Amino acid sequence: MKVFFTRKIPVQAEKVFNEAGIEYEVFPEKRGIKREELIKMASGCDGIISLLSDKIDREVIDSLPDLKVIANYAVGFNNIDVKHAASKNIIVTNTPDILTRATAEIAISLMLACSRHIVKAEKFMRDGKFSGWEPELFTGPELYGKTLGIAGAGRIGFETARMAKAFGMEIIYYNRSSKTDFENELKAEKVDFNELLKKSDVVSFHLPLTPETNLLLNRENIHYLKKGAIIINTARGEIIDEEVLIEKLKSGEIYSAGLDVYTNEPAVNNELFNTPNLVMLPHIGSATTEARNKMAWLCATNVVKVLKKEPPLTPVI
Ligand code: NAP
Ligand code: GLV
Ligand code: GLV
Repeated sequence: MKVFFTRKIPVQAEKVFNEAGIEYEVFPEKRGIKREELIKMASGCDGIISLLSDKIDREVIDSLPDLKVIANYAVGFNNIDVKHAASKNIIVTNTPDILTRATAEIAISLMLACSRHIVKAEKFMRDGKFSGWEPELFTGPELYGKTLGIAGAGRIGFETARMAKAFGMEIIYYNRSSKTDFENELKAEKVDFNELLKKSDVVSFHLPLTPETNLLLNRENIHYLKKGAIIINTARGEIIDEEVLIEKLKSGEIYSAGLDVYTNEPAVNNELFNTPNLVMLPHIGSATTEARNKMAWLCATNVVKVLKKEPPLTPVI
């Protein structure tokens, strides 16, 4: 039995395979693997540990007939054709829960960075422009007392809302199913998506990317947002129409946006660099040492379980 890693991940994964006596090969380069390389190098393997940037579609799956498990080193799995994998009896696993806090912390970091101009203010210091305390230097809205609209009240949406509640924010949410725990704990009201846009001072996205959530915030509904709203996206870039977001940031209708994810990653729309009021992070939501180490352990453990014909800990379906 053999497992292929499309990229080196923390050593916790290799330890699991060493203990289980399962052979593995790691893509040796410090870059994303190309599709042809993946098909060639994973040939004959029973399992793959993949990154969210590896597109594992029908063609890739069909070209790897020995595959029994795909363990995504991420909680999102929109990069994998899960239905097609299932039709070939290939199990797909992800890494839920252990990265929830890390990602919620990044959503909150972006909210603070957007409202208090943290990045611009820091650059101002480094540029030697600070000439003493000023009454109106880098003023911005307070989060306390404002309404946070959570789009997607799942694991990360819930944790982000909890943290925001501790800042004194009021919570409303948009979600497919009703979340009673969320409503009770956070005194949060469920609203439809347009209502969320109308009522929120900050909207934070925590939905998976699916055909239903693709371009959820778009040219037709973005005008529902309050003037001066803040948009945070730590989910997937494609959930927001990036072109329209750029227009609204440039016109000042949207106060600020904090993005950790982009349409067409790893490509980044150049216009984003010319957009004011935007804080951009390089998809680091889960990037705490703790989360990444646990994700490595969980991916590898899922693979070992499947190869031993045991149920994996976190299958996606
Ligand atoms: P989760 O627990 O599955 O939460 C997703 C929530 O979205 C669920 O409550 C689900 O509702 C809701 N939802 C799904 N489809 C919907 C739809 N069409 N309309 C309305 N609500 C819908 O997932 P999670 O662990 O919080 O992760 C959320 C996403 O964050 C991941 O899929 C991933 O893309 C992204 N992420 C990004 C980073 C990063 O580095 N920036 C890190 C981790 C995760 P139901 O309960 O009704 O299904
Ligand atoms: C990161 O984006 C993840 O889905 O884990
Ligand atoms: C600010 O530093 C203050 O003392 O108000």
